[in-house]
Amino acid sequence: MTAIETEAAGSHADRMDRMYRTQRHFYDLTRKYYLFGRDTLINGLEVPAGGSVLEIGCGTGRNLALIGRRFPQARLFGLDISAEMLVSAEAKLGKPGRTRTVLRVADATDFQPSEFGETGFDRIVVSYALSMIPDWEKAIDAAIAALNPGGSLHIADFGQQERLPRLFQRGLQAWLKRFHVTPRNTMVTVLKAKTAKSHDVLEFKPIGRGYAWLFTYRRVAK
Ligand SMILES: C[S@@+](CC[C@H](N)C(=O)[O-])C[C@H]1O[C@@H](n2cnc3c(N)ncnc32)[C@H](O)[C@@H]1O
Repeated sequence: MTAIETEAAGSHADRMDRMYRTQRHFYDLTRKYYLFGRDTLINGLEVPAGGSVLEIGCGTGRNLALIGRRFPQARLFGLDISAEMLVSAEAKLGKPGRTRTVLRVADATDFQPSEFGETGFDRIVVSYALSMIPDWEKAIDAAIAALNPGGSLHIADFGQQERLPRLFQRGLQAWLKRFHVTPRNTMVTVLKAKTAKSHDVLEFKPIGRGYAWLFTYRRVAK
């Protein structure tokens, strides 16, 4: 990273830590009312036996805990730029009887599978994090690069509420801004462009009249 990028990444990490230092304590309870699509994403992961799953921006570990229950043979990994969030994740995922999960403080735009002792991952999940990552396109590139051949990247995030009343869309987006969240209106185009340059395949599923968008990006096995 350049000096400017390091400074930007540092300040973003600080912002996330400041926001989540208190919020992490009631995060799971409150977010279940508006982070829709996460369970649909998890149910569609089809993790192969012994396969690896990385969640980027794993937050409190809510999704990883459910993935571990749904796919007990999966090997779980999580990264987040907020050390505060990982304190909650560690408490949740480190409990006796749970599948061991490897957690690391890392930036989604600049990480390597080797930091987790892996050469790549079979499944990568990014749930409601791209809308908070300033250079979200770089994060998508890093995620695709970290997939094993034949692996898939699963994204859930806010859509553009394109089939909901305009007043609702404006109100929601203004409210989300207060939490440093910007729904990425070009996400479909950006992901499609990546498949055009490869033989990779993209599935796109808007839910709740565009409230949320779900994507599955399948990397071809070479
Ligand atoms: C809205 S929370 C989503 C948490 C979890 N994925 C979920 O679905 O409940 C977004 C998470 O992304 C993390 N995050 C934001 N920017 C990041 C970055 N550049 N690299 C890694 N994690 C990041 C935040 O710290 C936060 O934990």
